[in-house]
Amino acid sequence: MTVNNLWYKQAVIYELNVRGFYDANSDGVGDLAGVTAKLDYLQHLGVDLIWLLPIMKSPLRDGGYDVMDMQDINPNFGTLDDFVTLVKETHRRGMRIMVELIPNHTSDQHPWFQASHDPSHPEHEKYKDYYIWSDTDQMFSQARIIFLDYEKSNWTFDPIRGQYYWHRFFHHQPDLNYDNPEVQRAMLRTVQFWIDLGVDAIRVDAPPYLFEREGGSSENLPESHAYYKRLRSFVEAYSPEIMLLAEANQWPEETIKYFGEGDEFHMNFHFPLMPRLFMALAKSDRTPIDKILARTPELNKSCQWGIFLRNHDELTLEMVTEDERKFMWDFYAPEPEMRLNLGIRRRLAPLLDNDQRKIRLMHSLLLSFMGSPVLYYGDEIGMGDNIKLRDRDGVRTPMQWDDSINGGFSDVEPQKLRIPVIDNEVYGYQKVNVKAQLADPSSLLNWLKIMIVIRKQHSVFGEGTLTLCSPKKKSILAYVRENELEKILVINNFSSKPQKISFEEMGIDDVELQDVLNLYQPVILEGRELELEAYGFRWLKVGPF
Ligand code: NOJ
Repeated sequence: MTVNNLWYKQAVIYELNVRGFYDANSDGVGDLAGVTAKLDYLQHLGVDLIWLLPIMKSPLRDGGYDVMDMQDINPNFGTLDDFVTLVKETHRRGMRIMVELIPNHTSDQHPWFQASHDPSHPEHEKYKDYYIWSDTDQMFSQARIIFLDYEKSNWTFDPIRGQYYWHRFFHHQPDLNYDNPEVQRAMLRTVQFWIDLGVDAIRVDAPPYLFEREGGSSENLPESHAYYKRLRSFVEAYSPEIMLLAEANQWPEETIKYFGEGDEFHMNFHFPLMPRLFMALAKSDRTPIDKILARTPELNKSCQWGIFLRNHDELTLEMVTEDERKFMWDFYAPEPEMRLNLGIRRRLAPLLDNDQRKIRLMHSLLLSFMGSPVLYYGDEIGMGDNIKLRDRDGVRTPMQWDDSINGGFSDVEPQKLRIPVIDNEVYGYQKVNVKAQLADPSSLLNWLKIMIVIRKQHSVFGEGTLTLCSPKKKSILAYVRENELEKILVINNFSSKPQKISFEEMGIDDVELQDVLNLYQPVILEGRELELEAYGFRWLKVGPF
């Protein structure tokens, strides 16, 4: 078999929360065996790469991003053997697996921190510099606080050591000290460990914050980039088909640096694009997308954007202006409980008023715009959220498989579920579930499956260039995707009204067109115009044929 090292450029990625996907051993918590049991579902959906939210040993105070042991599985989720089985079964179905690397911090329950903070610990000497300690809470004062709703400072006093420790996220997640070469090495060993277990890709959590230096924001420092280049060359030498994905939530000018010269990360999320897709829809105006694309440089051939609508966190509004944030909050999060830190803790369907037209339009964009699309579990059936739950739990509720007890997620008594299943009139598991949607040819799930099949027939979506068209109507976002094989024009209507599109205006005049979403039927334009229904979209292959 020839190895395709650029496989990630054609991948449809599916992010899932192991804890909330399927409970195979009936203890109320989703587990690895549960994911294995549902692999056929993911394969039939058309998933290429399964991204597992953190599965390492953890007290789960931050969804597993608070790690206690980077080289072991959380016993609630299963064992290393279960993981190996999952990897094997995933590969057998032609899919791949991505796990998390959380290099920036650990849980305060991690043995390294236990030894570091306690001078009487037998291993204190070895670990005392694994974290960032200070006698005061004054250093790096220009660094912003990320979890604004929970933390007042990036320093917390530790009474046992009698010093402050540095943390960019929760106070129970101390940051590791990358000026210590031992820490740098330990992380590479962790990467090696997961590669040895057979993973295909690694999502690197919170990369901008690895190092900190006085006199600036302590984000995106050259020292951090140098370390990621080292990580990449290690991976390249050890297992060159592994893909590294960065979660650098930054403006495009900074994000682009995480690709290096094609020698840092293979993929990075386009964070600033995501809220602008929602903004454009809300305002029926593509301008926010045009503007952010104008700031988005071309990528090196081996690099790829990861694009997404929703994920396991709040819809972050860090990479927008203050006015834009206010607009987004007013429009999409009218109730205070819907807001979190600098974001909105809601799922896709409720954000879009459960309007199928808008949900499908946004998926048309996700699947046809630049980069590799990342789907968030449950969004394929239009699951709802629960804003009464704490922090981000409201968007991490159990997957709704059918209309049986706990939505088919688990057969324990409902009170035993750590996160309750959604149970309301609109989004409850009785109504919104996989089984019902599989049986309904017009369901969101069945529609999305077809869309994914169609996307996969056209490598241009994963690898082609993207050129924006400039129709006069701002409610229309149109672009041409092109590679050596073909050219596809995609037109999206952000308006609640039908719109006439002039092909002359878009510079695509006098050409033959075929409707990619409708069996390649020829498209007859009347007077070089085409009408798009409210929130409609078309994918049109451009001739000559
Ligand atoms: C980003 C993750 O997506 C988020 O869930 C987590 O809380 C922070 N990093 C801290 O690890």
